Amino acid sequence: MNFRNYRCDMTIQERIEALSQQVEGLKAGSAEELEKLRIQYLSKKGEIARLYDEFKLIPKDEKAVIGAPLNKLKQAYEARFAEMKELLSAAIAAAQPKEDLTRTPDPLTLGTRHPLSLVREEIIDIFSRIGFTVADGPEIEDDKHVFSLLNFAPEHPARDMQDTFFIEKEPEEQKPTDILLRTHTSSVQTRVMLSQQPPIRVLCPGRVYRNEAISARAHCFFHQVEGLYVDKNVSFADLREVLLYFAKEMFGAETKIRLRPSYFPFTEPSAEMDISCDICGGKGCSFCKGTGWVEILGCGMVHPNVLDACGIDSKVYTGYAFGMGVERIANLKYKVKDLRLFSENDVRFLNQFASC
Ligand code: DAH
Repeated sequence: MNFRNYRCDMTIQERIEALSQQVEGLKAGSAEELEKLRIQYLSKKGEIARLYDEFKLIPKDEKAVIGAPLNKLKQAYEARFAEMKELLSAAIAAAQPKEDLTRTPDPLTLGTRHPLSLVREEIIDIFSRIGFTVADGPEIEDDKHVFSLLNFAPEHPARDMQDTFFIEKEPEEQKPTDILLRTHTSSVQTRVMLSQQPPIRVLCPGRVYRNEAISARAHCFFHQVEGLYVDKNVSFADLREVLLYFAKEMFGAETKIRLRPSYFPFTEPSAEMDISCDICGGKGCSFCKGTGWVEILGCGMVHPNVLDACGIDSKVYTGYAFGMGVERIANLKYKVKDLRLFSENDVRFLNQFASC
């Protein structure tokens, strides 16, 4: 066989032979060196590819003699390169500093309790010490439990689309239904009274919804805790004592309360409760608008119509109820001025409650 390459004096067989002697001696000390060698031997324009290009030009009858050693050469190079790659990564791994298995682990970053959860738990804790248990009710409610049973007149403005999110029925019946997102947790009162007879002493915490524009002072959802106590001989004086106890436990022993007459359809008489402003100690400041008092909840004696509608004999039993906004209490306790902070989940805000 004397087919000679036009670029050098060696025959193709001699070059196959020469290259197969080099293969074992190939060495790469770094990824860059390995890549250089790969380009030299195994790339599209490398030594082996060049031999294949020449192989195409060899007369047919000579191809059989050269084909087998050429393929063997290619396989030998590929195997050597795979081996070099492995050796190289083993060397790199060996050079890495060893993991110190005795070192103290990095501290885990734990989540914190949300301020509204902290306040809700504190309210529940305070009332559970005087015998209140917790009752739960659905957020998607109906008109009956949110309004009718609570003595709201059929045309009461709270039913208006302005305040309440009604849930629409199937598309062909686009008119509003009586299914809605509850606007207050007083709806849970009705469910409790419908399902059990006095004595009833429950707390109903939960989320409520109102069709309000979102601002620093209002939101389309917020949280309330409702309280209900029904038994024989429950009086307004009992209500006042319990609320005074709550205010002192929540805001400090010096806290004073004041009840102002108000109106709610489901209580009679109704009142709103203020606590003495703990920022200025009652002297008057911008927070309490100079009055020395800040409003924290609504309350009253359960209206006889509500007791009767819920199957409790109003001639035998009386009761009181109260309802407060959790955000409002949290605002006062933590001096948070913008309501939106509670639902934006900014960790810079939330982290501040880590130690509470
Ligand atoms: N449900 C009232 C509201 O959302 C709060 C309230 C007022 C609840 C007086 C009561 C109550 O139980 O007696 O504004």
